[in-house]
Order: sequence, then structure tokens, then C-alpha cells
Amino acid sequence: MNTDQIVRTFLEYFEERGHRRITGSTLLPPPGDPVLFTTSGMHPLTPYLEGRPHPLGRRLVNVQRCLRTTDLEEVGDNTHLTVFEMLGTWSLGDYEGPLSLDWGYGLLTEGFGVDPGLLHVTVFGGDDQTGPDTASLELWQERGVPVELTVEDNWWSNGPTGPCGPDSEIFLWTGDTPPESTPTGDERWVEVWNHVMMRHRRLVDGSLVPLPQRNVDTGLGLERLACLLQGRRSVFECDVFDPWRRIVPALWHLDNPSLRLVCDHLRSAVVVIGDGVRPANTGRGYVLRRLVRRVLTVLRRDDPSRGLEDLPSELIQHTLDHFRQDGDPDLVRKVLLEEERRFGRLLERGRQVLARPRFRGPLTEEDFHYLHDTHGLPRDLVLGLRSR
Ligand code: SER
Repeated sequence: MNTDQIVRTFLEYFEERGHRRITGSTLLPPPGDPVLFTTSGMHPLTPYLEGRPHPLGRRLVNVQRCLRTTDLEEVGDNTHLTVFEMLGTWSLGDYEGPLSLDWGYGLLTEGFGVDPGLLHVTVFGGDDQTGPDTASLELWQERGVPVELTVEDNWWSNGPTGPCGPDSEIFLWTGDTPPESTPTGDERWVEVWNHVMMRHRRLVDGSLVPLPQRNVDTGLGLERLACLLQGRRSVFECDVFDPWRRIVPALWHLDNPSLRLVCDHLRSAVVVIGDGVRPANTGRGYVLRRLVRRVLTVLRRDDPSRGLEDLPSELIQHTLDHFRQDGDPDLVRKVLLEEERRFGRLLERGRQVLARPRFRGPLTEEDFHYLHDTHGLPRDLVLGLRSR
């Protein structure tokens, strides 16, 4: 199944079960929202999880682009991307967790053809504030799926306060041997689908109060699911990355970790620019700036003549199309190239400043502060220049 077929199968399965499709939002949460980017499918739905009636009813399904910088250091492993799409379903005070889990099990095994013997789940085991999630446990036991009980790993929240709840995560075995151990004991168990029983609100003092309604919020990462269903080892090998795998290695000779980082960050930068963000020294613009500069640092490490001028528009267009963005690819390219030029000027200044006798020896914390505050040279960049 290619990703388009996966999305269609997912949407139809839930539409047949009374869910209405909502249009995904952009990566930018509404003004006043404390987070910089939409990090999960539930984020734009927060008011409805908190009780406001949704115009399309109590059962919803969608595809939402998300950006997670908390996982930035994990980018390049087999399962994490900075920007990804999340398939999501919601029961807004309608059906309960076990039905959601049962549908999830049905779609995975019958709709997507996953061998039930390769599944393992985790369930919230209870803590001093909330009891164990026995309803989920019983459902899985009836289906004959092995269960691991955990505490912190099975509690989902979108921040220190706000809607939250116990979750049940479905894992798929990706090893070459028959399944062994449990999800927390062996990394070959890969999480595919999270079902959150979103029925609490955490207050500033850490206490929990019930939400006005008992919701279920589920999310599964599209690229990860595609990789698993397509029998690939990493998200970078699923069909979403076909043009990237065809074009980027021919353009720049990179080792595998660098290739993954370049593809992930460039793709993310395109989507972020497509949603209207421009490079800056703070906020969203700074996240974008970091993404682009990390790409440039990797590209130039082996060959300073490499640059984004070589990036074919086809990749920009493919990415905008995939995320259903109608932005102008030439404008995206222009923003990338401007940022590249700015970075080039900064590097030049950095080289000149670091050539001064004062900076020849080991650098102190005070030096780093001075270089940053007076010359706009971040620590990473200074270290990169000094390692040449
Ligand atoms: N909110 C949960 C998650 O992001 C399920 O959608 O994993």
C-alpha cells in the first residue's frame, strides 16, 4: 500500500463508522496558543475536547501535519521525523476507549493486513492519582494481544497543564526473529498507534479534574505506518521519500546519517515556509533557521561549495503537494536561498573574528557569550568553525 492508499483506507474505515472528516490545520496554532507549532492531531481540537460542541459532531477523523522539535536529536534514527503527518480519530464524549481500541485492532489486522501475532500493547497501570485502565486491559485480553502495564509511558498530555489522560499504545514487531520481550524492553517493538482516554484536565497545582466529557483521542504517524506496512527499515525508505532518495544522493555525496538529516530538515523547512514562517532569531522563525542552518552545516562540512542553489524545484513542489499546501515553490526556494546567503555572511564574519589572537587558544564561557552577543555567532557555529 502506498501512503495515499493508507490514508484513504484509514479515512473510509472511520467514515463507515460514523466519523466526519475535518480538514487538517496548518502547522501554526491560533494566536495566544502557548506552543509554537501544532505537535499532534488533537492540538487544534483542544476546545472541543474541553466541551465546546464541534460543528461536525462527536466522531471526527483527519490527517494533520505536525512538527516536533522535542525529537530533533532523534531525527536520523529509523522512526522519527521533524515534520510528519498524523492520522487521527476522536470521540468527543461519544464512544469509549475499548471500542476505539477494537476498531484500531480491526483496521490494523484486517484493513492493513498486519499479522495479529506481531502486535503488543501497553496500558496504563495506575498511579496515586488515577486507577489502572482496566477497560483497555480487558479489551486486549479478549483479543489475545499481549499487554505490558506502565505508568509514565502510558499517560499522555500536551503540556504541563490542560487535557490529558491514560493511553494505550499499539506496537508492531519489526525484528527478523519471532517477537520477544516487551515494548519497553526491546526497541524492535515500534509504536504505531496511540489511543488516549482524554478525560482529565491537569491544573497548575498538578491536580487532576474531570473534563466535562469523556473523550478518546487517537493518533498514528503516517510515514511510520507506511514504513512498517511497506516492510521498510526506516521512515526514510517509505514511498513518501522516493523522490528524495532518487535526487539527493545524486546531488550531494553524504553518509547515511547526514543524508537522513538533510532530507528531514529540508523537507521540514519547506513545509514550515509553506505555512508562512520566515527565518528569524526567535520563535517559529528560529526553529526554521536552525533547520536550514543544520542542513547547510552538514552540506558544507565536506565541501564548502555545496549549497541550496542546487536543490531541484521538484522536491519543493513534491513536498508542498504531499502536505496539501498551495504555496509557490519559487517563493520557498527564494526564502531558503536568502537564508543561505545570510548564513554565508555570518560564517565569513565568524572566520574573521575567530582569527583574532584573543580566540586562538581554548575558548571560555565568557568568549562564547561575547561571540554570541556581540557578533551574533552561536556556539554551534563557533565550534564548527574551530573544528576545521
Ligand atoms: N494525542 C496523542 C498523540 O499525539 C494521540 O493522538 O500521540
